[in-house]
This record gives sequence, C-alpha cells and structure tokens, in this order.
Amino acid sequence: MKGLVLAGGSGRRLRPLTHTSAKQLVPIANKPILHYVIEDLVGVGITDLGIIVGETADEIRASVGDGSRWGATVTYIEQSAPLGLAHAVREAAGFLGDDRFVMYLGDNMFEDSLEAVVDGFGDGSARVSARLLLAKVDDPGSFGVAEFGDDGSISRLVEKPDDPPSDLALVGVYLFGPEIHEAARSIEPSARGEYEITDAIQWLLDRGDTVEHRLLDGWWIDTGKKDPLLECNRLVLDDMDYGVAGDVDEASVLDGRVRVDAGAEVRNSTLHGPVVVAAGARLVDSQVGPYVSVGADCTIESAAVAHTVLMDGSRIADGACLADSVLGRHAEVSGPGSASLLLGDHSVVELGG
Ligand code: DAU
Repeated sequence: MKGLVLAGGSGRRLRPLTHTSAKQLVPIANKPILHYVIEDLVGVGITDLGIIVGETADEIRASVGDGSRWGATVTYIEQSAPLGLAHAVREAAGFLGDDRFVMYLGDNMFEDSLEAVVDGFGDGSARVSARLLLAKVDDPGSFGVAEFGDDGSISRLVEKPDDPPSDLALVGVYLFGPEIHEAARSIEPSARGEYEITDAIQWLLDRGDTVEHRLLDGWWIDTGKKDPLLECNRLVLDDMDYGVAGDVDEASVLDGRVRVDAGAEVRNSTLHGPVVVAAGARLVDSQVGPYVSVGADCTIESAAVAHTVLMDGSRIADGACLADSVLGRHAEVSGPGSASLLLGDHSVVELGG
C-alpha cells in the first residue's frame, strides 16, 4: 500500500500563524505534526509516500527531505491550487497508479497506531473500495458526517452539514482502492468550491461499491485551530519521555515531568511539568508550565507561561503572563500584563499592564 499525505491547503483557521508557515509543521511537543504523520505510516510498513504540497512546498520539503530519515521514500506532488481533498487525489493519480493507499490529512493527529485500521485492507481481496474511520464528536457540523442505513452501514456522507444526521465524523485517515480515481474525476465542486472527498465517496456508495467503516479508539485531533492544537500539545506532553540533559541551576525547581534538552539553560525558574524545553532555549526568573512546549532558542525572562506552544526563537519577557497561546517563530511578547495570543512569525506585542 502507498501513503498519500495532504500537506497543501491554506490554513485559514490558524492565521496569522499560517500566513508565513505551513499548518502541518506547527510543532506539538517540539516536533512538527507532519513528522508524527510520517512516523505513523512508516509504523505500519507504509514507506512509499506521496506528499501533496501547495504554497508552502519549500518549507515542507526542507522539513521532511527525501524521507530516508524514517526509512521512507517521499515523492512531492504539487497541487495546482487548494481545490479540495478529492482534487488532491486527482493530482496524485500518477503517483498512486492502481495501488491501494492510505490518505492521511497532514494536520491530523491520533493517539493509536494505524495497525488495526489498515489490517486486511492492503491485499484488496475483499473488494472494498474504501474504508473510513469515524469518531464521535461534539460539533459534527465542523466535519464530514456519516448517516447510516438500517443494516448499520454508511448510506450517506455530508460535508459540514447545518443539520448533522449523526455525531459520527470522518476523521483524517481514509483507505482507498483504485476505484476512488474514477469517483474523484466524476464529481463537481461543492458550494464552497472544493472537490470534496465526501462527494467522491458518496459517488462510490451510489454506484453500489462497498464502503466499510471503523470506529476510532483513542483520541484524534484535527489541529487546524488554536484550541484543538493546544489540546493536542497537552495530550502528547502527557505521554512522553522526560529527562534533564540541559543546564539547570540550583535555584530552579523542576516539578513533575520536565524535559530539558542538552544546550538549554534554566536559571532561577520554576517548571511545572509537563514541560519540554528544546536546545538553545533560555529560561530565567520565570514560571513555566504546566503543558508548555518551548522551542529551540526561545527566551523566557521574568515571565510566566502555561498551556502554550512557543515556536523556535520566540521570546516572552518583562512581566508578561501568557496562557493558552501559540507563538510563531521569533515572535516577541513583553509585559507587564496577561494575555492569550495566537501570533504569527516575527510578531511583536507589548502588553499594556
Ligand atoms: O479533519 C477531518 C475533516 O477533514 C473531515 O471530517 C472532513 O470531511 C474533510 O473535508 C476535512 O475537513 P477540513 O475542513 O478539516 O479540511 P482542511 O481544509 O483542513 O484540509 C485537510 C488537510 O488537507 C490539511 O492538511 C490541508 C490539506 N489540503 C486541503 C485542501 C482543501 C490539501 O493538501 N489540499 C487541499 O486542496
């Protein structure tokens, strides 16, 4: 089986962060989301990967390279415009050929491995055209939603419905046979102007193809907005390896699960875990945590920060008190004052007091 990872699109819901960088490269516990996606696919033996890229192609290529670091081979597929998930499948037809494949949305993260999800699909012996993964959600109107027939199988799929027929949403992993190509070529754009994958799957259903589904165990997060992104950061930080290799002075207190990487410095500060601190970061006279990811070369000085993702080179200082925030690369916030912020790269904010 091949893997098709979608890392194009526009990232509207994470602006201004995504004006300058790809949403699939936002770090969760200091690792880009897209790297978790690749690890997940390689983890179930899928190493022939196509990555759909758009405007942020250069950044994605720089971050992933040729895939050899994961033992994978990566083919980049330039999508001419972000015209929808089924459009991405159309543009990847040459790469996919007649192979069965896993389509993985590059901004989705899962707790569990894909093992149970892909089991038995790759050989194609069951003549199943698609296998979908569904999860119960509180806000089905934000997703593709499934409706079921009397026999319990999916009868209809609707994209972001005003009046959801169930609370079971399509999550960002789809398994397809080559039948999807004819479907993706046969549909028209939706009201929002996209070739929807839900419409392509509906086309398969209408033709009488078998479309299976599985209910997801474990958590799943579409990280495309700030709050789910921070929630994802919390879940991953809750479940990782900790240890201190960096330089922590005696005046500092490390409380709970804290990782300080080699090359990071902590001075007269209190870290309430879970917290991860990357190389080159400097924490001075500050309160950090819980649930904070401090990227490489960040500075936190005379400040307090909780439930926050700090991307590389960002800086918080002078009595700033941040919670529930995501700071882009080299963003700067100075106090005194408290705030919850979503800042793009190189933003500068002076809090008023
Ligand atoms: O997260 C699950 C949901 O993903 C499903 O429930 C929906 O049925 C499905 O349409 C999709 O909805 P989103 O609105 O969340 O999709 P989004 O525009 O965020 O795109 C998902 C990923 O695919 C993201 O990494 C960007 C990438 N993408 C998107 C488009 C529209 C592309 O690579 N090319 C595109 O043309």
